[in-house]
Amino acid sequence: SLSFYLLLLLNLAAALALGADKYSRDDFPPEFVFGSGTSAYQVEGAASQDGRTPSIWDTFAHAGKMAGATGDIACDQYHRYKEDVQLMVDIGLEAYRFSISWSRLIPNGRGRVNPKGLQYYNNLINELIRNGIQPHITLHHNDLPQALEDEYGGWVSRKIVKDFTAYADLCFRKFGDRVSHWTTLNEANVFVLGGYDGGYLPPQRCSSPFGFNCTKGNSTTEPYLATHHILLAHASAARLYKEKYQDKQNGFIGINLYAFGAIPLTNTTKDAIATQRANDFLIGWYMDPLVYGEYPHVMKKNVGSRLPSFTDFESNQVKGSFDFLGLNYYLTVHIKDDSEKLEMEVRNFDADMAIKFAVTQDDPSEFEFPVTPWNLQGLLEYFKQVYGNPPIYIHENGQRTPRNSSLEDWHRVKYMKGYIGGLLDALRNGSNVRGYFAWSFLDLLELLDGYQSSFGLYYIDLDDPDIRRQPKLSAHWYSHFLQREGFNS
Ligand code: NOJ
Repeated sequence: SLSFYLLLLLNLAAALALGADKYSRDDFPPEFVFGSGTSAYQVEGAASQDGRTPSIWDTFAHAGKMAGATGDIACDQYHRYKEDVQLMVDIGLEAYRFSISWSRLIPNGRGRVNPKGLQYYNNLINELIRNGIQPHITLHHNDLPQALEDEYGGWVSRKIVKDFTAYADLCFRKFGDRVSHWTTLNEANVFVLGGYDGGYLPPQRCSSPFGFNCTKGNSTTEPYLATHHILLAHASAARLYKEKYQDKQNGFIGINLYAFGAIPLTNTTKDAIATQRANDFLIGWYMDPLVYGEYPHVMKKNVGSRLPSFTDFESNQVKGSFDFLGLNYYLTVHIKDDSEKLEMEVRNFDADMAIKFAVTQDDPSEFEFPVTPWNLQGLLEYFKQVYGNPPIYIHENGQRTPRNSSLEDWHRVKYMKGYIGGLLDALRNGSNVRGYFAWSFLDLLELLDGYQSSFGLYYIDLDDPDIRRQPKLSAHWYSHFLQREGFNS
């Protein structure tokens, strides 16, 4: 049949692609883990089934903010998790990174636990373990229960610390016997920038008059407040894990950040200093408290009294409250100094930072991201030198392609090859990298543009009522890289 020949061709192409590689899985330490990932709202579907209530991401999508797309059905992983685990086995994935939908587990955000939610995640975890795949779980991936947003404003209220800790406690207690890697929040920094400054992510609050999609929020303090509560909530959950569960469960806990690969636009001193400022604002905002117990000096200076401060007790709680960091890396971003004359149309956060982004990759004619492994290596070097070389998992890295492009996703293969090679170099230069997760396992509901772009190793035709998954060349390549023979061949 046609699909047989297509698969044969894909395997051949994958073999050719593999032939050019200078390294293999064996060049990495055996305990280094290779996986792929998704998040709950982006793949589960069954959004109002079995007792789940909406999260802030459901609300955002249903307000039409994602090019009209919603996660109501998505990839329907809620019903197809067994099939998906088999597809992971086909590739030879060693780990699967996914997130728990808080509002599926605790529909009101706190209090009553939904037994069907527990059942679902127990089933998924057991299915993974049965197949020798490690679960790496994130507790919050842009999807705070809407109930808590409505009740007290979610992350802008300090009340969130207690509720998040109780939710985390439930997860550790119920699933921790089989799960050894916990991440409190995904892309905490981007969640706040998008959700509380620019308004392009849920909960769509804007501190900037120039943000787009803004419906509410007008305080330039909000992004800083939300981050402060995220750090306190993360630390509270992590301390709880360490005190109550870690000895028995032998696991690890961390937090995930979007890793801006900031480089100066020009070789002027001004742009070099601006780049340092950008790193302090975009990464140090979280990393300095996590490693040193306080916000970066330049933030205190530029943000002034709008930046919350830690009590001694809080500072000690936050400091050192992680076993590993998850970093999501996609792009190089160019930084230009803008301290003298701020342009009108910058968001408040950018104004505090006194920089301008010149994201060259935003050129719409260049849909696919360029491959710049040296930039990822530089970033890992930065974490090594500035933050004491903490254990790092690359939690996300992946190539964007138009949704219905070819199954022969050469761009994605090239991207993965480049970055995995870069990681090997970083490892040899002493970086403490522990794993790599390709984003994403399936073509899913994309954060910024719904179903218009895709990152998946598996293609899903949106018009296919059976939501069939079809392996792309990248799935075959990854499988070969992981030294599986390639599947269906
Ligand atoms: C960031 C997010 O964690 C994920 O939800 C998103 O789909 C990818 N990166 C790609 O943009």
